Amino acid sequence: MSSAPRLGGKVALVTGASRGLGLAIAQALVAEGGAVACLARAGPELSRAVSDLAATGAGALAVPADVTDSGQVERAVRQTLEKWGRLDIVVLNAGTWQGAPVHETSEQMWDLLLDLNLKGAFLTLKYAVPALIAGGGGTIVGIGSLGAWAGQPGASAYAASKWGLRGLLESVALELKPHRVRVSLVHPHNINSAGPPLARDAPERARKLEPSEIAALVAWICTAPDHVSVGNVTIWPVAAGIMAQ
Ligand SMILES: NC(=O)c1ccc[n+]([C@@H]2O[C@H](COP(=O)([O-])OP(=O)(O)OC[C@H]3O[C@@H](n4cnc5c(N)ncnc54)[C@H](OP(=O)(O)O)[C@@H]3O)[C@@H](O)[C@H]2O)c1
Repeated sequence: MSSAPRLGGKVALVTGASRGLGLAIAQALVAEGGAVACLARAGPELSRAVSDLAATGAGALAVPADVTDSGQVERAVRQTLEKWGRLDIVVLNAGTWQGAPVHETSEQMWDLLLDLNLKGAFLTLKYAVPALIAGGGGTIVGIGSLGAWAGQPGASAYAASKWGLRGLLESVALELKPHRVRVSLVHPHNINSAGPPLARDAPERARKLEPSEIAALVAWICTAPDHVSVGNVTIWPVAAGIMAQ
């Protein structure tokens, strides 16, 4: 948001940074002068995302991992520390949406949503928090959803994962306050991601936010002065705010 980079010398780990909102967050943090370790499953999308970031002169590192796999997440955090020797910011963004009425929700769907959206965040915290504490402080941002606040038919497993993420992070916020690690949750609704991007003039476009619009909020949280802590923030397109109902 500011023209002067405010994250010079800082290192961020962003999960789900191969595309969509996670990539936009990585771009926003790099624009503020930060170095970013991008975590997603290994593949051409992650490689391309990181080489595009690096081509701008930014510090960017691919740390391929399945966020639901403890050993792989531990390795990704270790690779980040081996590269830069510190960790200041962790963005828990990797996640997905699937939905069905509860009696039609398969165990596979339940396990996918809870493992990716919730356990993945837990595992990332488990291995990253010691580095934040050792560094004397930092910022954690979880990407929730309006679905973490309001029940919606056909989305009970997703809601359970995002309400769980909110409970996880609100507890972690209290645990880490003495260590000067601040914890925020950004709850978006309707992002122009997770599928083919909509054309500028597509009628549904008014009901979606661009990933960069949410990434700017995350970057603001990460660059706020040390004494400023942001809690839960909801963000939605004016045309689609379910909270207004
Ligand atoms: N889209 C929306 O309207 C919306 C609304 C509210 C909240 N959100 C939340 O916003 C966040 C980002 O959503 P998005 O729309 O940007 O999703 P997206 O475009 O589908 O991107 C998801 C990211 O997560 C990564 N990912 C998926 N499974 C993974 C795994 N097992 N291990 C590691 N990384 C994995 C993906 O990379 P790989 O597949 O390459 O591993 C990708 O980088 C999610 O937490 C989502 O719940 C989205």
